Amino acid sequence: MTRIVLVLSGPNLNLLGDREPEVYGTATIDDHIATFTHALEGAADVEHVQSNHEGELVEAIHAARGRCAAIVINAGALTHYAWSIHDALATFDGPIIEVHLSNPNAREPWRHTSVIAPVATGSIVGFKGGSYGLAGHALKKILG
Ligand code: DQA
Repeated sequence: MTRIVLVLSGPNLNLLGDREPEVYGTATIDDHIATFTHALEGAADVEHVQSNHEGELVEAIHAARGRCAAIVINAGALTHYAWSIHDALATFDGPIIEVHLSNPNAREPWRHTSVIAPVATGSIVGFKGGSYGLAGHALKKILG
Protein backbone atom coordinates (compact mmCIF):
# COMPACT_ATOMS: atom_id res chain seq x y z
CA MET A 1 0.00 0.00 0.00
CA THR A 2 1.32 3.47 -0.87
CA ARG A 3 2.13 5.77 2.00
CA ILE A 4 0.34 9.10 2.10
CA VAL A 5 1.66 12.38 3.48
CA LEU A 6 -0.94 15.02 4.27
CA VAL A 7 0.14 18.61 3.66
CA LEU A 8 -2.11 21.13 5.41
CA SER A 9 -2.21 24.82 4.50
CA GLY A 10 -4.07 27.30 6.67
CA PRO A 11 -5.74 30.66 6.09
CA ASN A 12 -4.55 33.00 3.34
CA LEU A 13 -2.00 30.54 1.96
CA ASN A 14 -4.22 30.20 -1.12
CA LEU A 15 -3.10 33.77 -1.90
CA LEU A 16 0.63 32.97 -1.96
CA GLY A 17 2.31 34.36 -5.05
CA ASP A 18 0.17 37.46 -4.78
CA ARG A 19 0.21 38.05 -1.03
CA GLU A 20 3.01 40.21 0.42
CA PRO A 21 5.68 38.81 -1.96
CA GLU A 22 8.41 40.71 -0.07
CA VAL A 23 7.60 38.54 2.99
CA TYR A 24 6.51 35.23 1.44
CA GLY A 25 8.12 35.21 -2.01
CA THR A 26 6.41 34.81 -5.38
CA ALA A 27 5.78 31.05 -5.49
CA THR A 28 2.17 29.85 -5.27
CA ILE A 29 0.99 27.16 -2.87
CA ASP A 30 0.88 24.73 -5.82
CA ASP A 31 4.54 25.58 -6.55
CA HIS A 32 5.43 24.76 -2.92
CA ILE A 33 3.54 21.46 -3.04
CA ALA A 34 5.40 20.55 -6.27
CA THR A 35 8.76 21.39 -4.60
CA PHE A 36 7.83 19.32 -1.55
CA THR A 37 6.69 16.36 -3.67
CA HIS A 38 9.92 16.47 -5.73
CA ALA A 39 12.07 16.52 -2.54
CA LEU A 40 10.20 13.48 -1.17
CA GLU A 41 11.56 11.45 -4.12
CA GLY A 42 8.59 9.10 -4.21
CA ALA A 43 8.78 8.14 -0.51
CA ALA A 44 5.02 8.80 -0.27
CA ASP A 45 2.03 10.12 -2.16
CA VAL A 46 1.11 13.70 -1.30
CA GLU A 47 -2.37 14.86 -0.39
CA HIS A 48 -2.87 18.63 0.02
CA VAL A 49 -5.70 20.38 1.88
CA GLN A 50 -5.84 24.18 2.05
CA SER A 51 -8.56 25.79 4.13
CA ASN A 52 -9.32 29.19 5.57
CA HIS A 53 -11.42 27.51 8.29
CA GLU A 54 -9.99 26.11 11.51
CA GLY A 55 -12.60 23.33 11.82
CA GLU A 56 -11.89 22.03 8.33
CA LEU A 57 -8.22 21.68 9.22
CA VAL A 58 -9.16 19.84 12.44
CA GLU A 59 -11.36 17.46 10.41
CA ALA A 60 -8.58 16.86 7.87
CA ILE A 61 -6.26 15.89 10.75
CA HIS A 62 -8.92 13.49 12.11
CA ALA A 63 -9.28 11.93 8.66
CA ALA A 64 -5.49 11.42 8.50
CA ARG A 65 -5.42 9.33 11.70
CA GLY A 66 -4.56 5.72 10.88
CA ARG A 67 -4.46 6.56 7.17
CA CYS A 68 -1.53 8.95 6.61
CA ALA A 69 2.12 8.30 7.45
CA ALA A 70 2.94 11.92 8.28
CA ILE A 71 1.55 15.45 8.39
CA VAL A 72 3.23 18.63 7.17
CA ILE A 73 1.46 21.74 8.37
CA ASN A 74 1.71 25.45 7.70
CA ALA A 75 -1.26 26.68 9.71
CA GLY A 76 -0.75 30.34 8.75
CA ALA A 77 -1.93 32.72 11.48
CA LEU A 78 -3.74 29.82 13.22
CA THR A 79 -0.23 28.69 14.22
CA HIS A 80 -0.24 31.33 16.91
CA TYR A 81 -3.52 30.60 18.73
CA ALA A 82 -5.47 27.58 17.40
CA TRP A 83 -5.38 25.13 20.31
CA SER A 84 -7.97 22.95 18.56
CA ILE A 85 -5.35 22.24 15.89
CA HIS A 86 -2.75 21.56 18.60
CA ASP A 87 -5.12 19.06 20.25
CA ALA A 88 -6.03 17.37 16.93
CA LEU A 89 -2.34 16.98 16.02
CA ALA A 90 -1.68 15.47 19.46
CA THR A 91 -3.97 12.57 18.47
CA PHE A 92 -1.95 11.84 15.32
CA ASP A 93 0.39 8.90 15.55
CA GLY A 94 3.20 9.84 13.14
CA PRO A 95 5.78 12.50 12.35
CA ILE A 96 4.50 16.07 12.12
CA ILE A 97 6.56 18.80 10.47
CA GLU A 98 5.66 22.46 11.05
CA VAL A 99 6.60 24.68 8.10
CA HIS A 100 6.72 28.45 7.64
CA LEU A 101 7.99 30.44 4.70
CA SER A 102 8.89 33.45 6.83
CA ASN A 103 10.60 33.27 10.23
CA PRO A 104 7.77 34.16 12.64
CA ASN A 105 10.30 34.52 15.49
CA ALA A 106 11.89 37.48 13.70
CA ARG A 107 8.55 39.25 13.14
CA GLU A 108 5.85 40.82 15.35
CA PRO A 109 5.75 39.52 18.96
CA TRP A 110 2.32 37.87 18.47
CA ARG A 111 3.91 35.55 15.89
CA HIS A 112 6.56 34.34 18.35
CA THR A 113 4.23 31.78 19.93
CA SER A 114 3.49 28.58 18.02
CA VAL A 115 0.87 26.25 19.46
CA ILE A 116 1.87 23.75 16.74
CA ALA A 117 5.56 23.49 17.73
CA PRO A 118 4.96 21.57 21.03
CA VAL A 119 3.24 18.73 19.13
CA ALA A 120 5.52 18.79 16.07
CA THR A 121 8.45 16.47 15.47
CA GLY A 122 10.31 19.53 14.20
CA SER A 123 9.84 22.95 12.64
CA ILE A 124 11.31 24.42 9.44
CA VAL A 125 10.93 28.19 9.30
CA GLY A 126 12.29 31.15 7.42
CA PHE A 127 13.64 29.66 4.18
CA LYS A 128 10.92 31.18 1.97
CA GLY A 129 10.72 29.02 -1.18
CA GLY A 130 13.22 26.59 0.37
CA SER A 131 11.10 25.66 3.40
CA TYR A 132 8.91 23.08 1.63
CA GLY A 133 11.90 21.44 -0.09
CA LEU A 134 13.65 21.09 3.27
CA ALA A 135 10.48 19.57 4.73
CA GLY A 136 10.41 17.03 1.88
CA HIS A 137 14.06 16.08 2.47
CA ALA A 138 13.49 15.75 6.22
CA LEU A 139 10.44 13.55 5.75
CA LYS A 140 12.17 11.32 3.21
CA LYS A 141 14.86 10.65 5.82
CA ILE A 142 12.32 10.06 8.58
CA LEU A 143 10.11 7.74 6.52
CA GLY A 144 13.12 5.94 5.03
C1 DQA B 1 3.25 31.93 7.87
C2 DQA B 1 3.62 32.81 9.07
C3 DQA B 1 2.36 33.22 9.84
O1 DQA B 1 2.70 34.07 10.92
C4 DQA B 1 1.41 33.97 8.93
O2 DQA B 1 0.23 34.31 9.60
C5 DQA B 1 1.13 33.25 7.65
C6 DQA B 1 2.25 32.62 6.96
C7 DQA B 1 4.52 31.60 7.02
O3 DQA B 1 4.48 30.62 6.28
O4 DQA B 1 5.50 32.33 7.08
O5 DQA B 1 0.01 33.24 7.17
O6 DQA B 1 2.72 30.72 8.34
